[in-house]
Amino acid sequence: MPGPGAYWIGEEESREVMDVLHAGHLFRYGQLNDPKFSHKVYDLEREFATYCGVPHALATSSGTCSLLASLLAMEIKPGDEVIVPGYTFVACYSAIIFAGAVPVLAEIDESLTLDPADIARRITPKTRAIMPVHMLGNPCDMDAIMALANSHGLLVLEDACQACGASYKGRTLGSIGQMGAFSLNVFKTISAGDGGMIITGDRELYERAFAIHDQGHSPNRASVEVGQRTIVGLNFRMNELTGAVALAQLRKLDRIIATLRNKKKKLKEMLVGTKGMKFRTLNDPDGDSATLLTVIFDEAQQAAAVARHLGTTTISHSGWHVYANMEHINRYLKEIGRPHGKGMLPRVDDLLDRSINLSVGVVDAGLGAGFGININSGDEEIEQVAAQFHRIAQMESSEFRVGNSVRTLE
Ligand SMILES: Cc1ncc(COP(=O)(O)O)c(C=O)c1O
Repeated sequence: MPGPGAYWIGEEESREVMDVLHAGHLFRYGQLNDPKFSHKVYDLEREFATYCGVPHALATSSGTCSLLASLLAMEIKPGDEVIVPGYTFVACYSAIIFAGAVPVLAEIDESLTLDPADIARRITPKTRAIMPVHMLGNPCDMDAIMALANSHGLLVLEDACQACGASYKGRTLGSIGQMGAFSLNVFKTISAGDGGMIITGDRELYERAFAIHDQGHSPNRASVEVGQRTIVGLNFRMNELTGAVALAQLRKLDRIIATLRNKKKKLKEMLVGTKGMKFRTLNDPDGDSATLLTVIFDEAQQAAAVARHLGTTTISHSGWHVYANMEHINRYLKEIGRPHGKGMLPRVDDLLDRSINLSVGVVDAGLGAGFGININSGDEEIEQVAAQFHRIAQMESSEFRVGNSVRTLE
């Protein structure tokens, strides 16, 4: 099973979905005073905005659509450059490319999120925006990123798809830049199978995003609005069934995160002191969504051996989320004469070769998190997983290998 929210689908989601089915009104629009309209998407948007502490939230059909609609709402134009990390899901690059802009891939630091120093090096006269991605639930260094953006007049679109409910210095992720994008796919902290959210504090950006997500219409249109549409849009709407599940999941979000934090703390404490390894840096330890525990080994060889013995992979070999593994994106970058392919971001390559994701709430081999615990794991399971990891990591540490010539576990 994938994300923690999906593990906790139960009575609450059934009740919300049955409301919609009994009413028989599956489309997101309707008259709020119509007893046959249960307005789940409308309620979701309001509750999500309140949760994030922003005035505007918009439901969409996916995180990818949220990114694209946000970029278009921010009027990112063909030829503009958007700085984005080399470690992220492919959707970040595809959304930038579909907006006609150029993704400028940048290095990460030991938080496995955008390295502000490298962003600064990549700013050119064509740079219009920065897309910090709060990877694996860990907030980016938003103080440094916002300072850079403000001093260069750049827009910031936060990709909070993997960090719903996480925060940075008390502010919900997604609410710090001009816009924030979320995913509700099945691997995320809360899930409706698929779906997405956009948040912003800016009324104009909200209205533009709304129009882009629905054929140029204004928010919560009551009719076809011929003559009132100012821009061309597409259809990224969420339907009421998805809204119903998402609403029930949102109401569980705080409980999900509190549970994960508790389990992650236990797992982490048991791994402290493992030789040849450290935990990745958290830019705000209190804000981490605790969906994963990421460890960074001193040596790539040790990381690869440990991953193999655990039946998982290092992050660099997880397939997804690593720029070097995205043949189509690299082909595109090559075609437009930009740096491409493994080796273009040596720090990303090196860090991901040495890192393993342990699942805490998100169990996803595509993230390299095929080993670990899940939101329902009890103390005994957490202890077993920690003991297994610790034992294997110690046996694969260089100290052990030197002392015991070529001992292997097989
Ligand atoms: C960082 C990041 N951005 C964007 C997305 C895209 O979300 P979706 O799958 O809902 O389109 C994902 C999903 O995996 C993601 O992890």
